[in-house]
Amino acid sequence: MQRVESEIARLIKEINYDEVTRLFGTLQGGKRLRAKLILKIASSSEKAPLLAAIVELIHGASLLHDDVIDEATLRRGVASVNATDGSKTAVMLGDILYSKAFTELVSFDKDVAKIISSSVTALSKGEMMDVKMADKFNGDEDKYLEMLYFKTATLIEASAEAAAILAGKDAASHALYGRNLGLSFQIIDDILDITSDAQTLGKPAMNDFVEGKCTLPYIYLYKVLDDNEKKKLLSLHAKVLDEQDAIWIRKKMQEHKTVEKSFELAEKLSNEAMNAMKDDAELINILQTMIKRSY
Ligand code: FPP
Ligand code: MG
Repeated sequence: MQRVESEIARLIKEINYDEVTRLFGTLQGGKRLRAKLILKIASSSEKAPLLAAIVELIHGASLLHDDVIDEATLRRGVASVNATDGSKTAVMLGDILYSKAFTELVSFDKDVAKIISSSVTALSKGEMMDVKMADKFNGDEDKYLEMLYFKTATLIEASAEAAAILAGKDAASHALYGRNLGLSFQIIDDILDITSDAQTLGKPAMNDFVEGKCTLPYIYLYKVLDDNEKKKLLSLHAKVLDEQDAIWIRKKMQEHKTVEKSFELAEKLSNEAMNAMKDDAELINILQTMIKRSY
């Protein structure tokens, strides 16, 4: 991973603007899941650290923009750039990181460049779907999973597929692995929003529903509530929850095991990913570690 961090530092230096170096220095790196995947899959390729750095810059840019869109004040446990330096700066920093990443991407073969670049169109579409869907309560599981695929899974899928191409490995099975890892990762993220506390999360707990986002445990809950309870859940949608309301939601979720049900889907997707990568102990290990995050 040190080689990826060095590549990222080199690209930031090449931007040659002190303000960008300063702002970038305030960002937390995060789990670097996408970079780890690329390095593991394409360990034989000299260009793997650069591709990993490019994908992490794209991901970082998307989070800068996402925090502006979500009006989030915390990211990875520290104040977001929009909170410290304003939304305009966060958008511009995102633009710089994103365009620098694309400048570097053109040095790759056309198929690799196309896989990564088209996944960014998909993730941008996913972000828009997410925002639009938050306008009113969404109880449609398929619609939710389609949005998740676009918003989170596509860049992970593209990372695995592009890395496989770089290393001369099978592209389709790695793409399937990445797609299911991405979906399962996001479902677990959604679960943690409900089951963890703010300190562990590095952002407020139960914030998804406050932002209007109806994640799987809410979708499953709505289906099983009686009419009065359905009304109550709808009335709480996209509002700041008081302590009692948050307790009520968590209690109902426990009663109807909707978190467990969501976790079962994450496990199912993860098992499919493992089957696609039967012989690769390291890739299976990434999945298992990710699934364990939820406990
Ligand atoms: C986080 O979702 C957001 C994303 C994974 C994608 C955001 C994509 C864009 C803003 C499109 C623009 C893209 C570029 C490259 C500039 P979340 O809000 O559910 O997760 P969170 O709780 O971590 O904020
Ligand atoms: Mg967000």
